Amino acid sequence: MRIVLVGPPGAGKGTQATRLAETLHIPHISTGDLFRANISQQTELGKLAKSYMDAGNLVPDEVTIAMAKDRMEQPDAEGGFLLDGFPRNVSQAEALDELLETEGMKLDAVLDLEAPEDEVVKRIAGRRVCRNDSAHVFHVTYTPPKKEGVCDVCGGELYQRDDDSEETVRKRLEVYHTQTEPIIDYYKAQGLVTTVSAMGKVADVTKRAMSALTGS
Ligand code: AP5
Ligand code: ZN
Repeated sequence: MRIVLVGPPGAGKGTQATRLAETLHIPHISTGDLFRANISQQTELGKLAKSYMDAGNLVPDEVTIAMAKDRMEQPDAEGGFLLDGFPRNVSQAEALDELLETEGMKLDAVLDLEAPEDEVVKRIAGRRVCRNDSAHVFHVTYTPPKKEGVCDVCGGELYQRDDDSEETVRKRLEVYHTQTEPIIDYYKAQGLVTTVSAMGKVADVTKRAMSALTGS
């Protein structure tokens, strides 16, 4: 399956994408994670992306689309993928359509994860991520690690993302409403959107999302 996951910052896209991708046996492709990997490796792309990310703005389309294309062309993505955080505006959605069309492929679904603003703000404020693996995500009250500051899975150090400050989160939400939400209408016109509530336990949201995607 080829799936796009969309939703406000902090809705739980990364949390759900890890679980859905594993069950569906497709790679989880997160442009946010790809940028953060470039930042930690101090690449030129990472240096460029960091200035935009820390301000809560989108990284320019040209570099983002090139990076996403490169990742989607890796052999493990031949049979499908779950895109998390891409596309993030209408021109990225158009670029993705063009890319898929060239390869004779189509998207199967766009999963829209819905969560109210006060909840996403709480989720982001308490989020802690593992330095070793971005799939190891915790929340200080909702899903706390057994030992404070230490990843349950690998023992790595947990940290708070630079763009999770209150001011940047406000900007990221504004960018979501003005630039990303329009892609929901773009995909509705193609009959691809299925909306799922992101409220409740992580496992319940996963169940809801799986049944929306596969009908089972
Ligand atoms: P990105 O990394 O994509 O961030 P985001 O979209 O803002 O989303 P988040 O990672 O903040 O949240 P999430 O929905 O994945 O939530 P999570 O699962 O972690 O992008 C970052 C930046 O990179 C952008 O601002 C931009 O600058 C740049 N960028 C990325 N892609 C780009 C693109 N295509 N174009 C241009 N720029 C781009 O969950 C959040 C917390 O809630 C966690 O603590 C988790 O444990 C907890 N939680 C999850 N589910 C539940 C639940 N059901 N109940 C209770 N707690 C929960
Ligand atoms: Zn870890």
